[in-house]
Amino acid sequence: MNLENILPANIQKLKPYVAGKTIAEVQKEFKPSRISKLASNENRLGCSPDVPKAVMNSLNVVHDYPDPIAQRLRKKLAELHRVDENEILLAAGSESVISILCRTFFKNDENAVTANATFVGFYVQAGVRGVSIKKVPITNDYNFDVDAMLRAVDEKTKMVYIANPNNPTGTYISINEYKRLVENLPEGVFLIADEAYFEYARTEPDYPNALKYRKENVVILRTFSKAYGLAGFRIGYAIASEPVIYEMRKSKLTFEPTTPAQAAAFAALDDQEFIKKSVELVQKGRERLYTFFENQGVKFIPSISNSVLMVLDSEEEAIGFTEAMLKQGVILRRVNGFGLPNCVRITIGTPDDMKHFEKSYLSITEFKNA
Ligand SMILES: Cc1ncc(COP(=O)(O)O)c(C=O)c1O
Repeated sequence: MNLENILPANIQKLKPYVAGKTIAEVQKEFKPSRISKLASNENRLGCSPDVPKAVMNSLNVVHDYPDPIAQRLRKKLAELHRVDENEILLAAGSESVISILCRTFFKNDENAVTANATFVGFYVQAGVRGVSIKKVPITNDYNFDVDAMLRAVDEKTKMVYIANPNNPTGTYISINEYKRLVENLPEGVFLIADEAYFEYARTEPDYPNALKYRKENVVILRTFSKAYGLAGFRIGYAIASEPVIYEMRKSKLTFEPTTPAQAAAFAALDDQEFIKKSVELVQKGRERLYTFFENQGVKFIPSISNSVLMVLDSEEEAIGFTEAMLKQGVILRRVNGFGLPNCVRITIGTPDDMKHFEKSYLSITEFKNA
């Protein structure tokens, strides 16, 4: 069977996700004295210590299907965000929510507007649905160009996607820019406000919490994968108007997220002390990294997220740098797939991780001589 002949053109264009090296693989290949995994914007503190017990308890009922609408968790989130329960939809991570949005709302000839350097998961899920994506160039200071994005909207546009703060840049659009975007979108065009890194960003005075500027066409995405440290469970959610959530429920996989994931998220929400600690760790780690980069004359983009983008001179240099750091046990993320081939993204880790990063940076010569 020749798959090429039978595959839809949009699937032919896509490539399967290529994971970075795991801790075990790096250990086996390079035998470094320490490994710091700073590649995937995970929480390097782990998750709340209350999570394991809640998950163990949930295992008593794993022979039953999960609650398809996660009622207990949804109620808790509704109270937390002061929205109606029917305005929340839980799924297997916010990437799954993006997939649901694409499956639910696009007609065949419609397009999406986003940036050329943002969360790759949106490109993939829109691509799977066969949606054409208008990628508007980011600005010289690595931010969304809100006005250019508005200009890119045409009569076939169904969705505008932003991640705020953005991944991989860590930059954010201001309250005024956000308001301009929301107010100027034509009726019938959704704004997807992906706030995966909300907990890290919310104290920034000019950061727009999308929940404060709700409209019928705005869909807000949040996740338990980042500050809550539950990436392995796969759980995230959308907040939108009740009719929008109702339509999304039609396309959702019936039993996502799993029972243990729902239990983990419920317990994690109760431990806001852990979130506070996690955010403080990132804030301190970011400042430390900025100082280090300034001393070393490294170009970087200031971030309000849990990662910092390092800007190198070329793609070759970015490849050489990540490979040299990997040999030292520091796993970093090249962001060529996100449209920035000369950049490397560094997740902020524990003080020991950051020390390891600095020591390794100072020890490698290969990439600097390249
Ligand atoms: C902006 C953004 N949205 C969504 C996700 C995916 O989150 P989840 O693990 O909830 O699918 C990520 C993960 O890197 C992200 O950076």
